[in-house]
Amino acid sequence: MTNIIDGEAVAADIRKSLIDCVSQLGDAGVTPTLATVLMNNDPASQTYVSMKHGDCEEVGIETRDIKLDPDSKEAELFDIVDELNADEAVDGILVQMPLPSHVDERDVLRHITPEKDVDGFHPENVGRLVAGNPRFKPCTPHGIQKLLADAAVETEGADAVVVGRSNIVGKPMANLLMQKNGTGNATVTICHSRTDSLAEKTRAADIVIAAAGVPEMVDGSMLSPGVTVVDVGINRIETEDGSTLVGDVEYESAAKKAQAITPVPGGVGPMTRAMLLWNTVKAAAETASIDITLPWS
Ligand code: GUN
Repeated sequence: MTNIIDGEAVAADIRKSLIDCVSQLGDAGVTPTLATVLMNNDPASQTYVSMKHGDCEEVGIETRDIKLDPDSKEAELFDIVDELNADEAVDGILVQMPLPSHVDERDVLRHITPEKDVDGFHPENVGRLVAGNPRFKPCTPHGIQKLLADAAVETEGADAVVVGRSNIVGKPMANLLMQKNGTGNATVTICHSRTDSLAEKTRAADIVIAAAGVPEMVDGSMLSPGVTVVDVGINRIETEDGSTLVGDVEYESAAKKAQAITPVPGGVGPMTRAMLLWNTVKAAAETASIDITLPWS
């Protein structure tokens, strides 16, 4: 029987535990606060941001919801980030990507105070992750680690193939899997759009993480029996009856090979959001020097 990994359920568990953490912080006079900045008109981004706010409300995290006209000058965005950096009530800052083309994404990420960078994208936090001393793990790979742990998937000694080399998912995922610790110790291969013989590599894997942003690029013929498949993709494709959401994995054929697989939707997506809350609570606790135990840490 294939284990269909229920990301909604695991994320709900984490949110429930975070309510306790937020209440402990509240007893010490601290209310974790997340500020989001949205500078695009993309409906998907708007939906993601409003879902993040809904999640925060559920666990008792306060939010600031800042929207900036996509035609605004880059300097206006920097001013907003400066204000949030200086605001002692704000623990976490998330600037939703993508940003308009006239804004340099790397400059913006560098501008966020590393202690408030709950995305884990600031170069200092990236460096700490690579060096094996993470402050904030990026939310999607962190959530995948929790899903693998919950499904009792052993990473120690496993051959893991990460398909995709983005800064948000592929690179940090590969780094986390290779770390010298209980949730790492895997032998990691990173594949991407220029990889030759992708199927040979995925067939040799015990764990495949598909994060290339290409609809259904990994199918069952590219997998060996007993593999664990994690699908990070969320792609809307046109069908005869309208449109539908698919992942980077062709689910039906992959599920026949897999011992465990994440569905789309309901797999990785809810975990990404749960780990943003996790990082925000961690930021608040560390800023206030309050010792709390975060769920599954
Ligand atoms: N856009 C898509 N995913 C993300 C994410 O994880 N963080 C931010 N800031 N923007 C995104």
